Parts: sequence; C-alpha cells; structure tokens
Amino acid sequence: MSQRQLQNPPTVCVIPGDDAAPEVMRPTVEILQRLAPSINFVEAPCGREAQAQYGTPFPDVTREAIDNADCTLFGASGGPSRPILWYLRWNKETFINVRPVRWIPGYRSPMLNPERIDYVIARDNLEGMYPPREGDVAELATLTSSSSWWMAPPVDKVGAYSIKVSTDEQMQRVAAYACELALQRQQAGYPGRVTLGAKYSIQPRTDGRFRTLVKEAVSQHPSLTYQEFLVDDMARRLVASPETLDVVVLGNEHGDILADVSSGTIGGLGLSPSACYGEHYAYFEPVHGSAPDLAGKGIINPTAMLLSGAQMLAYLGYNEEARALETAIEQTYRDGSLLPVDQGGQAGTTEFVQAITARLPRN
Ligand code: NAD
Ligand code: IPM
Ligand code: MN
Repeated sequence: MSQRQLQNPPTVCVIPGDDAAPEVMRPTVEILQRLAPSINFVEAPCGREAQAQYGTPFPDVTREAIDNADCTLFGASGGPSRPILWYLRWNKETFINVRPVRWIPGYRSPMLNPERIDYVIARDNLEGMYPPREGDVAELATLTSSSSWWMAPPVDKVGAYSIKVSTDEQMQRVAAYACELALQRQQAGYPGRVTLGAKYSIQPRTDGRFRTLVKEAVSQHPSLTYQEFLVDDMARRLVASPETLDVVVLGNEHGDILADVSSGTIGGLGLSPSACYGEHYAYFEPVHGSAPDLAGKGIINPTAMLLSGAQMLAYLGYNEEARALETAIEQTYRDGSLLPVDQGGQAGTTEFVQAITARLPRN
C-alpha cells in the first residue's frame, strides 16, 4: 500500500476512459463527490477526445494531472487510452492489483450457492507476460539453457515469441502484500488463508520461484495458512469450491483471466471492482473493459466502477463514506425492485444510480 503522504484535502485524477467507460465514470464521480465533498476531483483528457484536442491520446496535461494527484480513478481503455493505463501501471509501479470477489443478494449469479463467495484476488500487476515483449523466433538463435528440460526454439521457422519475466523483488512484494491482506481480513473474521495458483510444474524458474517466495512469506506469519494449486486446477476451484478461498495470489496473466472467471461466478463484469497499489501511487479501475458493445445505450452497470470508487475512498481515509456507498449498493440489490439490465432488471445506468443515491446518507 502507498506510504505516500496524502494531500489534505486529497486530489483525485479522473480518467473517464474509452467507449462506454465514461458512462459509469460520470455518475461515480458525482456520488463520490457527494459523499466526500472535500475531495478535489480533476478530470483529465484521454483517448479519442485528447487525440482530437491535443494530437495525442495521452497529453502532458494528463500526465501532470496524474502526477499531481494522490491517486487516479480510471474508467477503462478500449485501446486509445492504453498509454495512460501503461503509465499508471509501469511508470507509477502499482505492483499489486486487488480484485475483491464477493456475492451480494440480488447479484444474478449462475452458481448454486453464491452466498459462499467472498475472497480477494491479489494479482501481480507488473510482470509475467506484461508489458508485452514479443519478437521473431529467429532472434532466439543464441539462446541457451542449462536446464535438463531445455528444447531449443524452432529458429528456422517463421514465428514469434513472447517473454515472461518474474523478478524476486516483484514476487516478494506481491507475496508480502497478500500476507498483509490475509492478516487484515483475519482481524475481520476471515480464516487467514493464502492460496497460490501458478504453473510451477512447468515453469520452475518463474512460477516455481513464485511458489517458493509466497510459501516463505506466509510461513513468517504463524496465524496464516498456505494452500497451493496448479493454476488450471485453481480455475476449477474458483467455480467448484469458492468457499475455501480467502486471499488468492496469482501471476499477472493468470490473474487477468481468472478474475473474469471469478466475476462470472458472482454475476458478471458489471459487478467487479479493483484497486492497484504501489509504494508511491495508487489507482482504481473496474475489472471490466470499455464495453464497446454497450457504448451509447445507457445500460452499462455502474456497480463495478462505484465499488472501485469505494475502495478509493477507503484508501484516502474516508472509511465511513466508503462503507456508506457499499451499503447503499447492497441495499439496492437486496431490495431487487430495480436492477440493471445485466442483472436481469430493466433499469438504465442513470435510473440505477438514482436508486443508489436515494439510499446514501444526506450530508
Ligand atoms: P469488456 O470487459 O469490455 O466486456 C466484456 C463483456 O462484459 C461485454 O459483453 C460487455 O458488455 C460486458 N460488460 C463489461 N462491463 C460491463 C458493465 N459494467 N456492465 C454490464 N456489462 C458489462 O471486455 P472486452 O469486450 O473483451 O474488451 C473491450 C475493450 O476493453 C478491449 O479493448 C480490452 O482491451 C479493454 N479492456 C480494458 C481494461 C482496462 O482498461 N483495465 C480491462 C479489460 C478490457
Ligand atoms: C485488465 C485488462 C488489461 C490487462 C488490459 C486492458 C491490458 O484486461 O486490467 O484486466 O490485461 O491487464
Ligand atoms: Mn482483464
């Protein structure tokens, strides 16, 4: 988590994102501003609009707005805003992506017992196969290895490679963060269980090392327990036995894919928030993308963006306000008389946001 000194009052940079993302960002900022009037929200241009106005999807004014803020609220990139996402991840070194997975009554889950789903994914946000580093297989001609498993790449063929990188520094801080999260949750009554999903059977140097480091980190906390599963089996467990999970540690690409699986178990991408923390910066974004198929229809579900906003409020120290927002969302789903289209209801984005707003405490 960020050790950075927060400004008082805090400043939040708002990047609306591409396609349908601004349709959930706009009402989210309105609600957050209403809950915490002292926060200074600064919207920065991005994507196609920035391209039209500044000749680039990521102008200097936007970089400065990100740099000058305590954190950023990011809609989603459908392509044009991707350089901004890259900046938030790699320039700001936001090393961990925290993706809570919790079913609430009213969420349209396809599961038989969704009430048992309540865990958090801690995903490496910086390494593995990200950022993309690809090339021509011919470039691998000089590559050698002492591994007994080594098979030289087919450099005489036409084709490409992609690189996966795992540094001890990053794996250790992901592991340490997962333990911290499990300890925090344990104080709130969760079992204190860290579960690693990785392909340590096939990738001993990267995922095997990750396994060793996560196991080591957990062993330093006697109150925590450690579980591990090969990531393919882990995928099954997310669906077959989610009640056994508390904090799930995953590599970057595994975490990306499996977070969407987890989201599917609670009722879909409209419901899944996330937070990305670094030592010096944090940003908040839903798990979902820019939902281009929904753009302009006024039906995109704002829940994931709102819950990401609640994670941000808590990060900024507005714990009561964060809880109030989560409660208003929960009450709206529990009531069930008005639900978003992806949850089987008929409410458009605006109508659904109004129902949540009506349940917020009055200032
Ligand atoms: P997506 O998450 O945008 O959409 C997948 C499906 O989920 C679609 O059917 C969409 O309608 C639905 N969906 C997503 N969010 C929803 C919401 N809030 N309410 C209701 N339904 C919702 O994924 P995609 O279609 O594979 O990708 C679209 C673009 O988004 C791509 O360019 C992708 O790279 C990008 N993307 C960006 C981020 C990010 O910025 N962090 C994350 C994921 C995908
Ligand atoms: C996510 C997205 C991103 C990822 C894309 C937009 C690069 O899918 O945040 O889940 O793969 O990390
Ligand atoms: Mn994703």
